[in-house]
Amino acid sequence: MENKIKIAFGTGNPHKVQEVNEISDGSNIEFILPSKEFNPIENGTTFLENSLIKAKETARISGQISLADDSGLCVEALGGEPGLYSARYESTPQKRINKLLNNLSHIDNRRAKFVCAMTLVDGKGNVLTQKIGECHGKIAYSQSGKNGFGYDPIFIPDGYEVTLADLDEDLKNKISHRANALHQIIEFVENNL
Ligand code: IMP
Repeated sequence: MENKIKIAFGTGNPHKVQEVNEISDGSNIEFILPSKEFNPIENGTTFLENSLIKAKETARISGQISLADDSGLCVEALGGEPGLYSARYESTPQKRINKLLNNLSHIDNRRAKFVCAMTLVDGKGNVLTQKIGECHGKIAYSQSGKNGFGYDPIFIPDGYEVTLADLDEDLKNKISHRANALHQIIEFVENNL
C-alpha cells in the first residue's frame, strides 16, 4: 500500500475519484484529489483538449503527476449532442435527463455512446500520454435505477437490458468508458513510470 504511485486526479466530482480508485484497485496507483481548489476553464473544443486543460491545471496547483478526464454522452440522432456540453445541457441532473428524453421522444434511433478522454501529465504539466475510452449503447425510453450519476439512469449499455444505474457499480466499472480509458493509462504508468 505505502509504495503506491500517487497521482492527483483533477476533478470537482468526488464520485469520479471513488470510481477511478475502484477501477484501479489491484494496481500500483492511488488517485488523490488535488489539495487546493480546482477551478479550470474548460474551453477546449474536444474531450481531449478539455482533459489536457484540466490535467495541466491539476499539475499547476499540486506539482504532482496528474491525471484528468473529460467525458460526456454523445447521442447519434442528435448529431453527437449533448457531447462536450453534457454537464451543462441543463441546470440539474434530473433536468438534463428530462431534456434528453424529450428531445428523443419521437426518434427511434436511440444509439448513443459515452466517451471519456484522459490526459496524464508530469508535475510540470508536460504531457505523458492521452487515451480515449468509449462505452456504446442506447438511450432508454424512461429512466430507471439509482446507482451511478449523471445520465446513467437512461443509458442501456450494449449486451444488457437495463440501465447503467440499474447495474452494480462493480459491473459499471468493468464496462464503462472511464474504465476503458483508465486501463490504458494504468498500462502506460506500469510500463513507463
Ligand atoms: P465532466 O467530464 O466532468 O466534464 O462531465 C461530463 C458530464 O457527462 C457529467 O457531468 C455527466 O453529466 C456526463 N457523464 C460523464 N460520465 C458519465 C457516467 O459515467 N455516467 C453518467 N453520466 C456521465
